[in-house]
Amino acid sequence: MVLASALALGACDRKSAAQAAAVDLPPLKSLAGFPVGTCVQAAQLDDAAFAALVAAQVSQLTAEWEMKMEYIVQDDGSLRFDAPDRIAAFARTHGLRFFGHTLVWYAQSPAAFARLGSGPGFAAAYRDYIHAVVGRYRGQAAGWDVVNEAVAEDGEGWRECLWSQRLGRLEHMTLAFQHAREADPDAVLFLNDYNLENLPKKRATFLKLAEALLKAGAPLGGLGTQTHVAADLKAGELTAALKDLASLGLPIHLSEMDVSLSRAKGLLRDRRELEAGQARVYAEAAEAFSSLPARQRFAFTFWGLRDGESWLKREDARDTPLPFDDAGQAKAAAGAWAAALR
Ligand code: G3I
Repeated sequence: MVLASALALGACDRKSAAQAAAVDLPPLKSLAGFPVGTCVQAAQLDDAAFAALVAAQVSQLTAEWEMKMEYIVQDDGSLRFDAPDRIAAFARTHGLRFFGHTLVWYAQSPAAFARLGSGPGFAAAYRDYIHAVVGRYRGQAAGWDVVNEAVAEDGEGWRECLWSQRLGRLEHMTLAFQHAREADPDAVLFLNDYNLENLPKKRATFLKLAEALLKAGAPLGGLGTQTHVAADLKAGELTAALKDLASLGLPIHLSEMDVSLSRAKGLLRDRRELEAGQARVYAEAAEAFSSLPARQRFAFTFWGLRDGESWLKREDARDTPLPFDDAGQAKAAAGAWAAALR
């Protein structure tokens, strides 16, 4: 079936440009009763057409990678902020909210931390890092992904990582939330994860972790569900997931949505069917998110606007997972998302 999807994408690519008809839409943010976001990279802001599309379409920005340790922490332990500052400045200039992503992630543990022992020096460096990064954007960042992807891939427990090994399985997370709150008294502090739509077991473990953090006194203020999904996502799964995640009463950030055609493994046969499936998934997400109580609709963030900028292109260059085409024209997927809000 995976081969069938890939063949379908290949076989129909020649016609896809015509078929992915552009739709005429007002700016997405003007249609939504909640902040609409996208991720950006500093260098992309040099592209005037891209910068104009972002400023016109969204009301919130997330740094795609330049506010993570992989960018900020240098080998000698110094910190660099040129790119995140540029993104923050663009948000300020255009009156956009700014969202910090991400402070603590199992996937990134720079050498400058790894070479420290387990003693008080490590805990102090961890605290100082969070204070330095969150403190720098105090008063501008509306919120932070404080801990990203803490739940195991299969939902059985929590991931092990340098942070859990050095500071404790739950303690490293409660500390991160506490240090972020010390540095910014107002930012909404999130726990963020993925595959919460299609893996109910992972979603259940995620919710139990959120409850454990609250019980431990962590100032957890919101739940992020990344929503990297595929065009054959079963109807209703996304709605069920959002309802379940909202059951704790915390604000929800639909934080990184894209809908892959290439990752679709169902019985969809060709690009047209894949694109119809994609539009349906985007529409369901819009409907489900806008059905949340207003106080729980933190933001709806697309993980990119134009297909060409998607991280998914690294897996399959033919994938077209985002709401706009490379020319910045809204696609049928964006039209379906907008129609579901009306
Ligand atoms: O731009 C530099 C380039 O100058 C340099 O030559 C090259 C080689 O090192 O790196 C390039 O930066 C890369 C960056 O993406 C921009 O393309 C980084 O290495 C690479 O690590 C980074 O990947 C990002 C990834 O997170 C890891 O940070 C992706 O863009 C980003 O889409 C992805 O986003 C994640 C979320 O944070 C968490 N949820 C899943 C999501 C997708 O994986």
